[in-house]
Amino acid sequence: MEKLDLKKLPRHIAIIMDGNGRWAQNKRLSRVKGHQKGLEAVKEVVETCGELGIKILTLYAFSKENWRRPREEVNELMRLLQRYLVEERKELLEKNIRLNAIGDLEDLPTPILEILKETVEMTRHKDGLILNLALSYGGRSEIVAGIRKIIEEVEQGKISRDDITPETFSRYLFTRDLPDPDLLIRTSGELRISNFLLWQIAYTELYFTKTLWPDFGKEELIQALLEYQRRERRFGLTTSQIRGSFTPA
Ligand code: FPP
Repeated sequence: MEKLDLKKLPRHIAIIMDGNGRWAQNKRLSRVKGHQKGLEAVKEVVETCGELGIKILTLYAFSKENWRRPREEVNELMRLLQRYLVEERKELLEKNIRLNAIGDLEDLPTPILEILKETVEMTRHKDGLILNLALSYGGRSEIVAGIRKIIEEVEQGKISRDDITPETFSRYLFTRDLPDPDLLIRTSGELRISNFLLWQIAYTELYFTKTLWPDFGKEELIQALLEYQRRERRFGLTTSQIRGSFTPA
């Protein structure tokens, strides 16, 4: 069996956790049950990333579009989020995990936003895995909000037009302090990005699996990491440049 090279792990993994509804449907269960089982998969993947020494895990837990789902489903997802944020506090602290959140967080119900802020604050000093939850997140909204902020700062004379580069632009996004994802995983067989981290995934390796999110766990994550390690990341350069045999003219 192939072995994972612990020195060549991605620094930042992002996951589109898809297929909870289909998992439930296949078992003739309610969609809510699929999300509940999905939360178990979240716990297993967070724990595995922590053990492997991954620095950042970004999970697409709730998109801006998800607010349009039936009210009972939205309520259940909010309830699961609240439960996770409260019940997992001890675990996060023990495992040295720092919680972070990205997205239009002010869209969240006030009690949940308060609990979220508390959990973020409680884990602020932790220096292990950063668990980054994308909540009421949409990539296009994030980019537009960044542009608005830049215009404001240019108008106020804080920055000039020439200061705006791809590097400085990144600092106006929710992910400002985080490196871009090295690996993006999407479960359930859909081959789409669905408005997730649009700017940040310019050079990210994409991994798609047919496994439905509730069935995703440690083994599947390791398979994705092995595939990542088989890939050659070139960032627009040639193979010989990447392998160090390149001599510039
Ligand atoms: C997509 O499956 C999944 C979601 C919209 C929500 C993801 C939420 C969880 C895994 C549980 C809560 C997580 C945390 C971190 C508290 P889908 O419902 O779109 O599946 P389908 O496409 O098969 O219908």
